[in-house]
Amino acid sequence: MSEKEKFYITTAIAYTSKKPHIGNMYEIIFTDSIARYKRQKGYDVFFLTGTDEHGQKIGEIANGMGISPKEHVDNISNEIRAMDDMMNCSYDGFIRTTDEHHEKAVQHIFKKLYDQGDIYKGKYEGWYCVPCESFFTESQLVDGCCPDCGAKVTKSQEEAYFFKMSKYQDRLIKYIEDHPGFIEPESRKKEMINNFLKPGLQDLCVTRTSFKWGIPVDFDPDHVVYVWLDALSNYITAIGYDVDSQSQQYDKLWPADLHVVGKDIIRFHTIYWPIMLMALGLPLPKKILGHPWLLFGEDKMSKSKGNTMYIDDLAKLFGVDGIRYYLLSEMSYAQDGSITPESLIARYNSDLANTIGNLVNRTVTMANKYFDGVVADKNIAEDVDAELKTQCLDSYRKFTDCMDKYRVSEAVSAIMDLARRSNKYIDETMPWALAKDESKLPRLQTVLYNLIESIRYIAVMLKPVIPETAHKIMAQINSDVFDIDSLENFGSGNISKVGTAEILFSRLDEKEMMAKIREIYPLAVQAEEKEEPKKKEKKSEKPEGVASVIDFEDFTKVELRVAKILECEPVPKADKLLRLQLDDGEQGRQVVSGIHTWYEPADLIGKKIILVSNLKPAKLRGVMSEGMILAADTDENTAKVIFVDDSIPAGAKIH
Ligand code: MSP
Repeated sequence: MSEKEKFYITTAIAYTSKKPHIGNMYEIIFTDSIARYKRQKGYDVFFLTGTDEHGQKIGEIANGMGISPKEHVDNISNEIRAMDDMMNCSYDGFIRTTDEHHEKAVQHIFKKLYDQGDIYKGKYEGWYCVPCESFFTESQLVDGCCPDCGAKVTKSQEEAYFFKMSKYQDRLIKYIEDHPGFIEPESRKKEMINNFLKPGLQDLCVTRTSFKWGIPVDFDPDHVVYVWLDALSNYITAIGYDVDSQSQQYDKLWPADLHVVGKDIIRFHTIYWPIMLMALGLPLPKKILGHPWLLFGEDKMSKSKGNTMYIDDLAKLFGVDGIRYYLLSEMSYAQDGSITPESLIARYNSDLANTIGNLVNRTVTMANKYFDGVVADKNIAEDVDAELKTQCLDSYRKFTDCMDKYRVSEAVSAIMDLARRSNKYIDETMPWALAKDESKLPRLQTVLYNLIESIRYIAVMLKPVIPETAHKIMAQINSDVFDIDSLENFGSGNISKVGTAEILFSRLDEKEMMAKIREIYPLAVQAEEKEEPKKKEKKSEKPEGVASVIDFEDFTKVELRVAKILECEPVPKADKLLRLQLDDGEQGRQVVSGIHTWYEPADLIGKKIILVSNLKPAKLRGVMSEGMILAADTDENTAKVIFVDDSIPAGAKIH
């Protein structure tokens, strides 16, 4: 890019009625990952977020608390901003709809639309829903309640101003059809056209007189401007738009490149907002992306169900990056995601602690142990190196391709593919075995170089996802080449000497964490436990003849390795037991096994077997056993040890 191309990205502005839950916060974290990625790609990014502060509901809540609406929205807006900051959201602008410039600009927008005849004064008779701040006709109600949120509605008649939506309907349909990427995902676009636009738009009531907490219509102050007209304008007022005086910033940034909003408010952004802009004679945003929702298990989060979780509480337990990672990997492009205490712990352990954390720690530790941290490619290559490098480039391409399409969870999974492949590379190349042989040290150097460079790929790609961790990894491998384009060529990392190894993510103890979560959210944990019988039912859908079905996560807890039997002898005073001394690719270990009935030491010495290598050590007849070897029951009374091919080296990990 010769001159930096601008990229203007926004979130919906959050209501300030109450503290937002973790589902609301997903949106800004998702948007932040895109903003950070675009900066990485060299764009001049402006990332806007903020708070939506007017409306009857807020007025009522503040009243109930005995404070003024302004005091209430100040408190909540500050709380939201503090949470955005705590979660490392790199917004450039934060608008509040109580900002003076915004309020004035909204009044001017309203007046302009009125003067040009797009807004007219009439009378509204219908049913009003306070939570949605919307009017409905009798026929729109569902069982006499609000069709959107199900709340009770009240009959209402008032003088009001209306926006001639229908005037722009055909133009908007044509625009949407001519601009295929305007609404995403595609399914949402069809929904908007078929369910809302084609049946015909009604004129929209854009003022209220039943309450005061809003922006007054300056030429008719009994009326306040409808919250959605007020709130949607934020995307232009925040960057300095006003009817008669646009700022340089507005000229540079508008039209927005991307509005990120939740699936429930796509309609406002793809119908009302474009029509407002058309009426103002302004260009339309380039894309509106409606993201799915985060559910608790399979339920909507709600205070009454007690399953509402807050990001500040969870970040204390899982760290900022633990939560960012969870949300960005869990939420797919179009399908709702789910959060439960158990899934939070499981994903943290499997992806962050076991896969990424372990990879970085093992590698940096080995580089320090074997070469005092010095890393250099000695060009002693083997086939497996090419596979690792291909994975680096494949992951990088998949990552950028997905990020360019705002498919963040798929981009994250491309990073994890590389982390898993790199761990496998360690198992395949067995650096600890190479270290034992002086002549293999140059090969070991190449192996470690390849690993450190792969880790750099991971860190560069993690930067928009979990920025703090990405920086920590770069410090450990001591590279300053954070530039994403450097991933075009394997080996551009300017790596020469690593720093000290530090644990990035310690494995969490499930019981301990559940107890901590239960302390904060007793009802949420209970709600999940109530789900347990359902889960158990699911688990019992197992193939016939199988004793029980385990999750993949359970399987990954078992570490299986190939080991060679070096020595073998009977355990005194124990007919069935043999003591085996094994070469496990590391320090060696002793295992006691109950196979003497079928094997004599001579049958076993020199053979290779499968070892369960992370079993808690135990004493059998007073002899310490540090693992277990695998055998198969061939009939009720016979077990046969599983021997493996001699070409598989001792220490090799079995998947
Ligand atoms: N104030 C309006 C937006 C006005 S934009 C001009 C609003 N506010 S909100 O606080 O209710 O929602 C803020 C955002 O959070 C919305 O995009 C909404 O879809 C999103 N979410 C609300 N609950 C959510 C989940 N459970 N999961 C993911 N996003 C969620 O709407």
